[in-house]
Amino acid sequence: MLLWKCGAILSLVSGEEITISFYFQLMTTYCLPLFSPPDAPKLPSTSVSPSGETEEGSSVTLTCQSNAYPAANYTWYKKNGNPELQPLSENTPLVFSSIQSSDSGEYYCTAENELGRRTSRSISIDVKCEFLKDMRITHSQLEGSSVNLTCSSDANPAANYTWYKENEDSPKASGQIFTITDVRPEHSGNYYCEAQNSRGRQKSTLHLIVVAGNYNNLAHTR
Ligand SMILES: *[C@@H]1O[C@H](CO)[C@@H](O)[C@H](O)[C@H]1NC(C)=O
Ligand SMILES: *[C@@H]1O[C@H](CO)[C@@H](O)[C@H](O)[C@H]1NC(C)=O
Ligand SMILES: *[C@@H]1O[C@H](CO)[C@@H](O)[C@H](O)[C@H]1NC(C)=O
Repeated sequence: MLLWKCGAILSLVSGEEITISFYFQLMTTYCLPLFSPPDAPKLPSTSVSPSGETEEGSSVTLTCQSNAYPAANYTWYKKNGNPELQPLSENTPLVFSSIQSSDSGEYYCTAENELGRRTSRSISIDVKCEFLKDMRITHSQLEGSSVNLTCSSDANPAANYTWYKENEDSPKASGQIFTITDVRPEHSGNYYCEAQNSRGRQKSTLHLIVVAGNYNNLAHTR
């Protein structure tokens, strides 16, 4: 591909032929041929802005760049195991105005011009929740005479869980599942699950009612 680079050179010329000095200006314009070999895109580099931890709800921009001549066009994709990849943005940076935890995943871009196409390394976006979201306690069906209370949340980073029973100081169990074996009416009461991660802690309550003689009447209210 042939391009022309043009410019101007300004020179001052002075003369002393007459008693008063004079100057006049010479303007030379020039054009030089400029050869730029056509070039397929190089491995694109990617960047995430802002860098560091990605907070849910924040604005995040992914930029793709590659040296190519003629200039490459850029496309962003999300890796989701789906062979039918949907391009997310074409020829612009990929912008999330309010990123959600469901946007977490691996992203990559491609740079393409007439001479070829290169795919960047993938970058991982891990959206951290501000709080422990959607915390809930569920209980399993009775199995023999034992029941599982399960505490869950959409926490990211993952939370750890501790179980307490009302009016008892020491924790009953740690971990997501609390198994009550040999369920009896005395097990009725309020159970708390406390979830904690580096961003905070939150409690959820389950009121368990065990009815004597009919363990199938296991009931709970939040
Ligand atoms: C990108 O460039 C290639 C090669 O020039 C072209 O075939 C393709 O349609 C372009 N894609 C976009 C989205 O502009
Ligand atoms: C409780 O959970 C454990 C571990 O997941 C499982 O093995 C067990 O069968 C469960 N028990 C009940 C009563 O659901
Ligand atoms: C739970 O996680 C928090 C924060 O990451 C940590 O400080 C605490 O020690 C953990 N507790 C348990 C029981 O692992």
